[in-house]
This record gives sequence, C-alpha cells and structure tokens, in this order.
Amino acid sequence: MSLWDGRFRENLDGNAFVLNASIAFDKRLAQQDVKGSIAWAAALARAGVLTKDESKRIISGLEAVGLEFKKGLFALSASDEDIHTAVERRLGELIGSLSGKLHTGRSRNDQVATDFRLWMMESQPELIGAIKGLQATLVMLAEDNLSTLMPGYTHLQRAQPVTLAHWFLSHFWALQRDRERLADLHQRVAIMPLGCGALAGTGFPIDRQALAKELGFEAPAPNSMDAISDRDFAAEFLFCTAMIGVHLSKLAENIVLFTTAEFGFFELSDAYSTGSSLMPQKKNPDLFELARGKAGTLIGLLAGAVATLKGLPSTYDKDLQEDKVPVFQAFDTLTTIMPVLARALETMTINDERMLAAIDPGMMATDLADYLVRKGIPFREAHNLVGNAVRVAAEKDLSLKDLPLDAYRLLLTGESNSEKEWQAEDVFEADLYQIFDPIKSIETKNAIGGTSPQSVKKQIKRAKSILKGE
Ligand code: ARG
Repeated sequence: MSLWDGRFRENLDGNAFVLNASIAFDKRLAQQDVKGSIAWAAALARAGVLTKDESKRIISGLEAVGLEFKKGLFALSASDEDIHTAVERRLGELIGSLSGKLHTGRSRNDQVATDFRLWMMESQPELIGAIKGLQATLVMLAEDNLSTLMPGYTHLQRAQPVTLAHWFLSHFWALQRDRERLADLHQRVAIMPLGCGALAGTGFPIDRQALAKELGFEAPAPNSMDAISDRDFAAEFLFCTAMIGVHLSKLAENIVLFTTAEFGFFELSDAYSTGSSLMPQKKNPDLFELARGKAGTLIGLLAGAVATLKGLPSTYDKDLQEDKVPVFQAFDTLTTIMPVLARALETMTINDERMLAAIDPGMMATDLADYLVRKGIPFREAHNLVGNAVRVAAEKDLSLKDLPLDAYRLLLTGESNSEKEWQAEDVFEADLYQIFDPIKSIETKNAIGGTSPQSVKKQIKRAKSILKGE
C-alpha cells in the first residue's frame, strides 16, 4: 500500500522503491515529524476541519507514536517510504481510519521542509555547544601560557616571537566567528513552511501565525512556492560547517607539525595518539590528521548540496530529498571531532624549552629596525640597514646577536648614509643587544590585538566574557 494507490494499477518496482525511499536517513526526523503533526492536528481543529474530539484522538495517537520512537520500540515496516509515511502508517494502526484526516490540507512537501527546519533549530545548540567547549579549552590553555614564548611563523618561516597564549587564542576567534555565523543563521531557519501545502498554499483556513508560534518558529513563510523549495538554510549550514572544518584543519595541521621530532613543541598524551602496527617507536597524531582530513569532506558536502540546488525548477523536486544526508553528516562529524580535539589539547605536554630554543636572534630583526626608527631613521632605511646587517652576519657565520658593535656601526658608512645624516655611534649603541631578548620583543606588541602578555590578558578577559555571556 502506498500513498498514491488510487491512481496506479501496479506497485512500485522493488529496486525503484529502495531508490525512492528516504527512511534510512530521515527517520532521524521522527520527533520533529510527530511534533509538526500534533501542531497541525490542533490547527485543523482551530480551523474547524477536525472536531475537538477527533483532534484529541489524533494527538494522543501521535504522542504514542512519538513515545515508541523515543523508547526505540517503533518497528519500521517494509512499506515505510519515509518518516512521514511511517508515522502516518503507525498512527492508523493505533487509532484506525481517523488517522486519514491528519493529512488534510497538508503535503509532504511542506511537512518535510518543516521537520528539517525544526531539526536544525533543535540541533544547533549541540553544535554551538561543541564549538564553545573547544573555545573554553583554548582559553584555559592561553591562561596557562601567558608568558610561554614560541616562534611565530609566516610562510612557515620563522618570523617573530609570540606567546603561546596568543597562538591558542588565534584559534578561539576563528571559532567565535563560526559560532556567530551559526547563531545568525537561526533567523533564516526559523521560518515555517507548514501550511504551504504542496506548493500553492493550504485550502483550509489555517491560522499560520498561531501555528508558527506553537512550533517555535519566528514567522510563517510568506510565499508558499518559495517555502516548499527553500533550502538556503541547509546550504548556509553546510557553509558554516565547512568553515569550521577549515578552521579545525588549520589548528590540526599546526599540531601535526609541532608534534614532529623536528619541532618537538608539543607531545600528545597516549590517550589521544595512535601507534603503528609495524614501527614500534611511532606515536602518531591520527586524530588531528582526521580533523584535517574531514575538512575536505565537509567542503565536499557543501559543494554537493549547492550543486543539487542549482537549476531546479520552481517548488518541490525530488532532488531536494538529497538535502538531509550532508547536513546530518556534517553535524555528526563536527560534534564528534570537537570534544576529542579539546581533550587532546588539554592533555598534551607543552615543551617550553624547545619553543624558546627555536626563537633565533634573527627573529628580532624587525625589533632592531624599530630600534633604529626610535633613533629617527625612516623605517625603509632602517629595514635596509638591518637587512645589510643580516647579510654581513651571515657572511661571517654569526648571528645578529654576536655581530660586534663596530660591524653595526660600519653599516652606516655605506651608501645608506651617503649624506652623513646619522652618527653611527649615536645610532648603534650598546643597548641594541637588549633587542635580542624575545621577552622584550613581545612586550613591545602592546596595542590591542598584539602578543604582549598585558594585551593578551585583555584578550582573555574578553574571550571569557564572551563565553560567559551566552
Ligand atoms: N521524502 C521526501 C523528502 O525528503 C518527502 C517529500 C516527498 N514529496 C513528494 N512530493 N514526493 O524530500
């Protein structure tokens, strides 16, 4: 028995049924389907389509169906094409032919779009909570490492010293944008398709405002044709999840790199690393590699969903049934990964000495240029002079820190000082060697957003109040 038997002489072919069915994945919408149907039965009664008694019997039947799902007692039947048919079939078994009145003025088209939106509204807190959990870990690690020094990189080449706290927090803010994006999405998810029928609207006097309110939507969708096919919220959600994936992949790649013997900045705890079946010495960062790899999958889910939507003719097309799988997969992927990453970060060992040792004096070259700027030399000139110093030091096989004062002063006898504007003795003084203390370097980065401990403390305060405020 199918929903459209009246029109057909033959049953759907067996393989075609399998292809057509979505129950395998949309059974996840069971509670939302029941909830939407209960609200619909009540709305039909308010519209005078069902009697009070009929509506009551339908609603208690639906509640029983919902309970069966909750307790894991719901038995799927081979003929259940999707969650909507399954719920209605079971309702019929429980309350008899009255169940046939529930679908009055409604279509699976407005029903599925409603269920899916309800699911997203209800699931968002879990995803947002998982992001928040990881953010809290990053803040905690930042607090513990306020003055831990590490080399900062651009182009993956040693650039300037930073604090480890600053680095942890850099990932906090990316995740904060992700969380804000998901929260912003709510206003576009919380628009109710129910009462739009198959495409043209419902033929019964349903109070859609009241219905929307009852189901927790912000408003009823203003156009039935748009409402039936609008899956922007799913695409947007998948963009959000792809972006989270991208952010996690950056964090993960850093961890993979920093746990190598070559870097040795961090060591993962045993509980969050894996071994090799062949090489006994191996300790692998599989979980972080997976986090990095999943970003590719998440991006693919977005690309696939958007491609499915492209060029669809107006209103419902069966292609839209493809919308749920990527959304569920992205949701499950991220709610699984993020708590694992958080624990793995919390339990890893941080090797302060290795990080400090990786800060070479060359990384203070910019500070040296700033030193010259404070002596009145234009930055471009200063940059050039320090560049010369780096070259001279390299030729002598010395670090900038070991280059004698005379050698620095000699730099000013060259063409960069052709007009003898500056006295070498006044420009390069003995205090220049203080520049090579990385703590000095970070302490100068004191403006908002900089890496000085003072500035990072303010950042932590802000991050904490953001975490507390919600
Ligand atoms: N299982 C379908 C889906 O997920 C429900 C809507 C079916 N509507 C239809 N006219 N065939 O999209």
